[in-house]
Amino acid sequence: TNELKLLYEGKAKKIYEKSSDEVIIYFKDDVTAFNGIKKDSIIGKGKINKLITSFFFKMIEEKGIPTHFISDVDDNSFVAKKVKIIPLEVIIRNYTAGSFCKRYGIEKGIKIQKPIVEYSLKDDDLGDPMICKNVILSLKQVEEKILNRLEYYSLKINNILSSFLEEKNIILVDYKLEFGIYDNKVYLADEISPDTCRFWDKDTMESLDKDVYREDKGNLIDKYSEFLRRINI
Ligand code: C5P
Repeated sequence: TNELKLLYEGKAKKIYEKSSDEVIIYFKDDVTAFNGIKKDSIIGKGKINKLITSFFFKMIEEKGIPTHFISDVDDNSFVAKKVKIIPLEVIIRNYTAGSFCKRYGIEKGIKIQKPIVEYSLKDDDLGDPMICKNVILSLKQVEEKILNRLEYYSLKINNILSSFLEEKNIILVDYKLEFGIYDNKVYLADEISPDTCRFWDKDTMESLDKDVYREDKGNLIDKYSEFLRRINI
């Protein structure tokens, strides 16, 4: 990937230009938390997150939801469609945890009967503020029919992932999705990995995700590897 033009570098990924309509996404070993205040490089993390992301994206595509994933390249990278990222983070919650508990003063680990879909504006300088649908529409961030599609896809993805993980005795607590547009069509983009989801062992409620790093409660590679093992890849 050395000769390819670097289009964008984020906290955990690099995006290289492959052609006019394709990019190569490289998963870095870097890990950050609290909007970059805590950061480290953990050897092997990029490879695990790339494996998990391509596994889930293939599964989601097979269920009829378009994703940016095209093909695997190597341990740390895959080819993806060059979508235009919609500047929203879509957060889906099945159990109370994280900022939801903090914001509303609620105990962690309570099952939410009807999954909650929240939106944040993707803006590091503003600290990714939470935003409601009406504000998204009035700021003309996204058209209404696109926003409705994001929500429809997000809930469908929630069913696909939750039921798959349930069979592995893992609870899908909450996670973040990003979407992009290509030819006026909505595609699931970015990643789905232990960096962007909360996964709990159903029996022990132990975290198999980035909370291990955020809360200093164990070895990140051990937990991410255990998640890999549990989903059989
Ligand atoms: O921090 P909070 O509890 O709102 O996060 C909800 C879910 O979204 C968690 O699984 C977290 O890993 C994910 N998330 C993310 N990137 C962000 C914010 C949240 O992957 N910028």
